[in-house]
Amino acid sequence: MNILIIGSGAIGLSTAFELALAGHSVRVVTRNYEEGTSWVAGGMLAPFSEGLTGDLLSFSVESLNLYPDFISRLEDVARMKIYFSRNGILRITMDEEEHREVGRLAREYARGGVGVEEIDSQELRKRKPFLSGEPFGAFLFKEEGNVDAEKLMDALLLGCENLGVKIHIDEITEIEKKNGRVESIKGYRDTYRADFYVFTTGAWSKSLLKLPVFPVKGQILKVKGIELERVLYSKIAYIIPKENYLLIGATSEDAGFDSRATLGGVRTLTEGALRLLPSLGDVEFLGVKVGFRPGTPDEAPIFEAGENYFICVGHYRNGILWTPVSAHTILSYVEKGELSPYVKKFSAQRFLVG
Ligand code: GLY
Repeated sequence: MNILIIGSGAIGLSTAFELALAGHSVRVVTRNYEEGTSWVAGGMLAPFSEGLTGDLLSFSVESLNLYPDFISRLEDVARMKIYFSRNGILRITMDEEEHREVGRLAREYARGGVGVEEIDSQELRKRKPFLSGEPFGAFLFKEEGNVDAEKLMDALLLGCENLGVKIHIDEITEIEKKNGRVESIKGYRDTYRADFYVFTTGAWSKSLLKLPVFPVKGQILKVKGIELERVLYSKIAYIIPKENYLLIGATSEDAGFDSRATLGGVRTLTEGALRLLPSLGDVEFLGVKVGFRPGTPDEAPIFEAGENYFICVGHYRNGILWTPVSAHTILSYVEKGELSPYVKKFSAQRFLVG
């Protein structure tokens, strides 16, 4: 089948990759393939640390379980290594009340079979690097992971290129539809036609698709200096080790598409990180990145499966986590006409009711 993907973040490129690997002829159209929020993502695979429940949790766990195979398929085709680990995330608590709250959720997860280890206040103090600093206690969510989102994006671009996926640089301005089918996609440069269309336009979906997706600005710091075994996740900041540096994330701002890195953002993140790990005061500051999470009113993604198209947007804080399951959902629909139960659960229709 001849397939056109609109958008080149992790969701769009992984869908292009999987469809091309399955033998389809795939093109991607994007305004700028370096613009996607995925390039700025922390890459934490953290459904439990993020406190997800219900459908969002099961959707996340499905994706987490698809990750190892997805990474190895991609590494093979892209012929490059992607930093990826699944040695758990330490969910840090800052006081007794928060520790009790997270503990309640952690016990619920554990009853469902999730690997959890509680580290109380006394125990945490004995562990490096928590000999000083404010953290009260922690929970180790053993199955959570961490992927280098920049490397993932590099690999997706290379993997797509190696499979013959063509990338068109253009800004799409109009979708021509007739009897519920997409007829063509119009851009400033050209008009595009395909047998099937996939819309993965992230935070920029509102004007083109008329869906309630809005940007939630995030600033994230890059620093170099200390080695950390695993991600530290807290409400005031998270510290995410990569191969050669650390990320400190992330602000959450209602600021539209304001792409400026600000001193206020740097201060919030720096203060949070130093409260967690005072030893970070001496690390080398490498820079700030700014991205736009595709927010939705209920923080769930938005799917729509049409006769010859699929919409997959609104991945908010979990775009990297939900990448394999999103690509898999689209692949099953294109290949077998199969509708995953999540397409109904997260259908765009929920915003039209009432
Ligand atoms: N998932 C972390 C964030 O969006 O900041």
